[in-house]
Amino acid sequence: MSIPLSIAWTDGQLVILNQQKLPHEIDYLTLETIEDVYEAIFTLKVRGAPAIGIAAAYGLAVAARRHHTETVEAFLEAVQTDAEYLGQSRPTAVNLVWALERLLETVKKAETAEAGKALLLEEAKRIHQEDEASCRQIGEYALSLLEGQERVMTICNAGSIATAKYGTALAPFHLGSERGRKFEVYACETRPVFQGARLTVWELQQSGVDVTLITDSMAAHTIGAKGIEAIIVGADRIAANGDTANKIGTLNLAILADAYGIPFYVAAPASTFDLATRSGEEIPIEERKAEEITHIGNQPVAPLGTKVFNPAFDVTPAHLISAIITEKGIIQGDFQRNIPEVLNLYAGKGEKS
Ligand code: MRU
Repeated sequence: MSIPLSIAWTDGQLVILNQQKLPHEIDYLTLETIEDVYEAIFTLKVRGAPAIGIAAAYGLAVAARRHHTETVEAFLEAVQTDAEYLGQSRPTAVNLVWALERLLETVKKAETAEAGKALLLEEAKRIHQEDEASCRQIGEYALSLLEGQERVMTICNAGSIATAKYGTALAPFHLGSERGRKFEVYACETRPVFQGARLTVWELQQSGVDVTLITDSMAAHTIGAKGIEAIIVGADRIAANGDTANKIGTLNLAILADAYGIPFYVAAPASTFDLATRSGEEIPIEERKAEEITHIGNQPVAPLGTKVFNPAFDVTPAHLISAIITEKGIIQGDFQRNIPEVLNLYAGKGEKS
């Protein structure tokens, strides 16, 4: 039993687990160009907010190697252009621009292009390492919050393969499994791209966690029928007031948790908070192609030419969230006031004092 990983820096190269092919094929891809990285993020080969940030950070470092400029200024300009390009690969997960901005801030210190290349790679590695530590700590806090609760529901994949390791919402299950603590996890399949069925079920099975798959439409019935005691999900962007964007279907679960009187937890690292965004209304919601709904795999399930609305994320209003679990601590109550306090943030997203 082991916890799967999805991103590695190996022999000077960026290697990812191709999540499009899971669970039937374990396929690793080496991303050699910035276009490779953009495409891997856009097509969900690498996905999950923190993993997108880590991949983009390495992507910027990989791209920088090809810049042979005469001056450091020209080098920095080229890196800026690359960051803008990668930043457009997906709109909702703020970890993407957070990671790119962190690299841009670091590379400014370079006195030569070669020094800049080294700084970019070091910072990408640091983001990768920090995310693993953050997720482990999130798992510890989540375990304490879930004390006495065994049957837990989740959606999408906020797991090890969506981060550096452990995941956010799935971290307590991985840590619990290492320590002999028993959970019964109910995973929503997560239409339209089945990250729950394909990824969460596979990941938890790899780690020896008891997991049961349900369709998204079975959530309400299952909470009652199986005695679900808590719901835990990840996040792609958390606004200053606590409103949280996460995979489409998350809002349904939050409303159900409220109706059934069970806690609804969001687990996310500090890099997923965007305090420059005041509320959920300002969060950009990605819309994806119609075929993700009209087809399952390559098989059409709706009449040809069917009109489709395919938002990839929804926003759960803060008042439906019982607690936000971060590596810095558990945030409850008045989110507007307590988020900056617990994260120890000052002016602007992601900056730590
Ligand atoms: O479209 P995806 O698969 O990238 O969406 C992922 C999610 O919504 C996750 O819950 C979120 O990114 C948190 S991952 C730790």
